[in-house]
Amino acid sequence: MAISNEVQARAAWLREQLHGHSYRYYVLDDPEIPDAEYDRLFRELQELEAAHPELITLDSPTRRVGGQPLEAFTPVRHRMPMLSIRTETDIGPGGAQAFDAQVRRELGLSADAPPVEYACELKFDGLALTLRYEQGVLVQAATRGDGETGEDVTRNVRTIKTAPLRLRGVAPAVLEVRGEAYMSRPDFERYNARQRAAGLPTLVNPRNGAAGSIRQLDPNLAAKRPLSFFAYGLGEVQGWTVPATQSAVLDALAALGLPVCGERAVAQGAEGLITFHRAIAAKREALPFDIDGVVYKVNRLDWQQQLGFRTREPRWAVAHKFPAQEELTVVEAIEVQVGRTGAITPVARLKPVFVGGVTVTNATLHNAGEVARKDVRVGDTVIVRRAGDVIPEVVGVVLERRPTGSQPFVLPATCPVCGSRVVRPEGEAVARCIGGLYCRAQLQEAIRHFASRRALDIEGLGDKLVEQLVGRELVRNPADLYGLDAATLAELERMGSRSAAKRVEALERSKNTTLARFLYALGIREVGEATALTLAGHFGALEALMGANEERLQQAPDVGPVVAAAIRAFFQEPHNQQVIARLRAAGVHWPETEVQRAAEQPLAGKTFVLTGTLESMTRDQAADRLRALGAKVSGSVSKKTDYVVAGREAGSKLDKARELGVTVLDEAGLQALLER
Ligand code: IVH
Repeated sequence: MAISNEVQARAAWLREQLHGHSYRYYVLDDPEIPDAEYDRLFRELQELEAAHPELITLDSPTRRVGGQPLEAFTPVRHRMPMLSIRTETDIGPGGAQAFDAQVRRELGLSADAPPVEYACELKFDGLALTLRYEQGVLVQAATRGDGETGEDVTRNVRTIKTAPLRLRGVAPAVLEVRGEAYMSRPDFERYNARQRAAGLPTLVNPRNGAAGSIRQLDPNLAAKRPLSFFAYGLGEVQGWTVPATQSAVLDALAALGLPVCGERAVAQGAEGLITFHRAIAAKREALPFDIDGVVYKVNRLDWQQQLGFRTREPRWAVAHKFPAQEELTVVEAIEVQVGRTGAITPVARLKPVFVGGVTVTNATLHNAGEVARKDVRVGDTVIVRRAGDVIPEVVGVVLERRPTGSQPFVLPATCPVCGSRVVRPEGEAVARCIGGLYCRAQLQEAIRHFASRRALDIEGLGDKLVEQLVGRELVRNPADLYGLDAATLAELERMGSRSAAKRVEALERSKNTTLARFLYALGIREVGEATALTLAGHFGALEALMGANEERLQQAPDVGPVVAAAIRAFFQEPHNQQVIARLRAAGVHWPETEVQRAAEQPLAGKTFVLTGTLESMTRDQAADRLRALGAKVSGSVSKKTDYVVAGREAGSKLDKARELGVTVLDEAGLQALLER
């Protein structure tokens, strides 16, 4: 069948695109498109070539695995090729069953033979490496390159703290370890925070961090980008009895002192694979490093050998990738939102794109500084990332696809909601509308905050209701809430007389509160829950707090000049004084401080030490919440410590706690304390 010009041109275009992108990705470490987009182009070319084999050229990107070695690194010819694994597109139960069925067929197993055993591992999202140990000493490290020839990156790999320079115990004559270099998320965040603070470029994602660091010609710079390493397989081996299964190989590597990821399992048959996949998918976000899927390997090495390879991929292994967390889309508009404190947040309205398992149409651009730094413009093609439940964000712009004549985004000079001036104090990232409660957007947010669960906890005062109350000017400040009656509420949309009566009851109930909740509900800048509690405890009565000057305010624990100034400014504002007076006149009240402190501070007198990485919050946030409950948070463990909260990778403090017999809580234990 003759190939149309169109198909030929498409194939040529795809090859060119793929060459260009893989050069940027592999050689420059500066990819311009997300992996998912690259994969799509690659697959399209693969399909075209499969349908029309005449199209295949010697230099087609489908004929080779990776990029060429950088000139500056010495090429290393792998004694055993570094292969890739087949990626299964059907990652559901069907895919696992198909793989298992194929393995059984190719091994010639009868239907009544017991289930095949598999080693289930994570598919780490970093850079493949091979480490060569001779007599137990690291002599060479190389990248995968095109699978046959990689690059000598020994000097950089030596900076990876988790890659041992010398093996433990009786070492084999030669041991080549295959594995993945990666940048953990905490390391990635820290690195970017430092770069941002220094006004230097940040990394797009941990994977590029890992690749960039390994390929960094200056090992001193490489050392500043902290990497980690996980071993997952073997290359050449001499003078060592290789264990009989993949899982035993990993155990043996771990015993030699190599880092092996603990998130792995031995599974029986397709059922076992599906169970592992589900467990990891649920855990993915909580892992301290990025993975892009799971890998299933036939566990018995003799069976692996028997199954062998098809072209460059083993028949005994398959990768099941998770849905991509980064995709490309187009910015259709940039709008701004106004928050409770007047903060103006630019938001990108996007052409709908399926990423991280949901369709995304908006992504926050955080603030004016961020928009300027990323230079996101209307019409731009951008990389959108959505990981887990995190708010989708624009990672960067694909400059090559920028339409001509596009203009940089300029923050509006006036508030789009109320028309007040927008000001951005020098040196601050955030611009604000100065309209205060005159601004409907700020008022709406202020009312929502006032009614929220941790503030006055007014049940049933949802977003839609607040929108109507503010929109119809029934509520102009929080005090107006208590003037609402059932008849007025019943006239609102989606509000019958029964629900109106319920809202009135909820309003009535909310009047019985605490001073700390009341202070928090007022929405004073810089005063979060923890500070509100401190202030309530320190001043005891609202009058004392309202009358305090900045000096007196700073005598309260953890109140510095900035917080003191914000509190003073708030209470000096006559409008705020009026609202407070009206709230109290409406019956909002709280018990005497002493009573309140005893009831509200269940952890009073207890000393905590936090160590390791927590998953649901930062250590600072945990400390704030503990302090808010009356606890003291200290930096070191002693006999006086009541609890040590140990997150992931907790180190010496945990050891010390055990030594001293201090109660150790895990994250779930901490949560239970915080929520009780
Ligand atoms: S085994 C012959 N195991 O995935 C099989 N690879 O296409 C050799 N990868 O870039 C690979 N995690 O670096 C294997 N647990 C794991 C892996 C893994 C990540 C990467 C590998 C390579 C690609 C294989």
